[in-house]
Amino acid sequence: MQTTGPITLASYMRMCLTSDVGGYYTGALEEGRDQFGRKGDFITSPEISQVFGELIGIWFVAEWMSQGKPKQGVELVEVGPGRGTLMDDMLRTIRNFPDMAGSIDAVYMVEASRELRIAQKNLLCGEDAPMSESKSGYHSTCKYLDVPIVWMETIRSLPRDPNRTPFIVAHEFFDALPIHAFQVVEVPPPQQTTPSPSNSRAAPSEPKSPTLQWREMVVAPTPLGSTHTSLGTPKSEQHSGPPPEFQLTLSPTSTRHALYLPESSPRYRVLKSTPTSLIEVCPDASLYASNFAARIGGSPQHPKPKPSGAALILDYGPANTIPVNSLRGIRKHQRVSPFSEPGLVDLSADVDFMGIAEAAMKSSEGVEVHGPVEQSDFLEAMGIRQRAEMLVKKAGDGARAREIEGAWKRLVDRTPGGMGKVYKALAILPENGGKRRPVGFGGDIGG
Ligand SMILES: C[S@@+](CC[C@H](N)C(=O)[O-])C[C@H]1O[C@@H](n2cnc3c(N)ncnc32)[C@H](O)[C@@H]1O
Repeated sequence: MQTTGPITLASYMRMCLTSDVGGYYTGALEEGRDQFGRKGDFITSPEISQVFGELIGIWFVAEWMSQGKPKQGVELVEVGPGRGTLMDDMLRTIRNFPDMAGSIDAVYMVEASRELRIAQKNLLCGEDAPMSESKSGYHSTCKYLDVPIVWMETIRSLPRDPNRTPFIVAHEFFDALPIHAFQVVEVPPPQQTTPSPSNSRAAPSEPKSPTLQWREMVVAPTPLGSTHTSLGTPKSEQHSGPPPEFQLTLSPTSTRHALYLPESSPRYRVLKSTPTSLIEVCPDASLYASNFAARIGGSPQHPKPKPSGAALILDYGPANTIPVNSLRGIRKHQRVSPFSEPGLVDLSADVDFMGIAEAAMKSSEGVEVHGPVEQSDFLEAMGIRQRAEMLVKKAGDGARAREIEGAWKRLVDRTPGGMGKVYKALAILPENGGKRRPVGFGGDIGG
């Protein structure tokens, strides 16, 4: 960056998270590094309680039933599967419904990290199971159902077949996708000169009012000798670490992205008349949402005779506003500056659920979107309390029972530090005139 000049926030995030050299997920910096769990940097819902994945498995069983129990052609797809725990809990649950299990042709895992791909294979197929490579990805066989599991780095590599029924899950995936950030600034009008009739020399014309423009926030190295104080690092992000190596600044000139991304939706366009408005835009989230929707509902480029399948997206972010200032860094379970120790710090940003819904509806006329609903409402409707009570009873009175109790309550905790309110669920389903609400979103199984 010293030589290239500032880069966009999206380029910075992409380099930090998924670059081959030193990416947080893909770089393999330290031997045996694990991002997840108590010894890692963060913990996710499937890692907190098995009930989370079990209920998501049940959600897909309910969808499969509501869509006429197709006998074949079902594929399970997970994007960003981490350690593979969610898919493991889902498959263990789905195995208990032999008709649905028998309808599954393949499981697809979209994963950028080689290390995590291997961890997923070990969990879902067994440590000794071989993994082979082909042009389409990496292959092994599921230990629960006798079906292939195929790994690929992006959803674009996933085969498209209009007769397939894809059931897609994305948990804490969208928050890891790179965002662009923009602010509306007042720009002085260009100095115009008009010829004066009495004088052949040009004279300044009447001053015009400033115009409003979107400007992109870019990432630049911090000046030499910077301190936390000079950079204004929030106290909560300092932890006696060195001052961040990079900082976010406003681009002094218009960038390519500033010209078209904030113009891409009416939700952004209305803000352009208000100076200092901020927005975060995630083009990759729109690409993934469009891709899910086209697989479920068909699209002009990929027509489908009958919409089928479903996508369930679980993540954190506001329900109906555009995220702003939401980039955060996490290391060893603490908030840190997202601009310190690039590649060693997990970066994430709030998910724009309305943006996902908009992209899905735009991409396919064959889908409808439900939610977002708060995670606590979704999990309570799915029966988390009843399932957890069964597990507690089985565990007896000891520490294990208390652990199960604490874990499920954390997932539905609606207080500010809990996960029940800030995490949301959104579903993309085959278009049905809004007549059938999915379970967890106000509907019942089968209706
Ligand atoms: C925060 S983890 C979530 C893991 C898991 N879903 C869970 O809840 O435990 C993000 C996952 O997405 C993967 N990932 C991040 N960016 C990606 C990208 N651009 N393409 C594919 N996978 C990506 C990471 O390697 C990791 O598996």
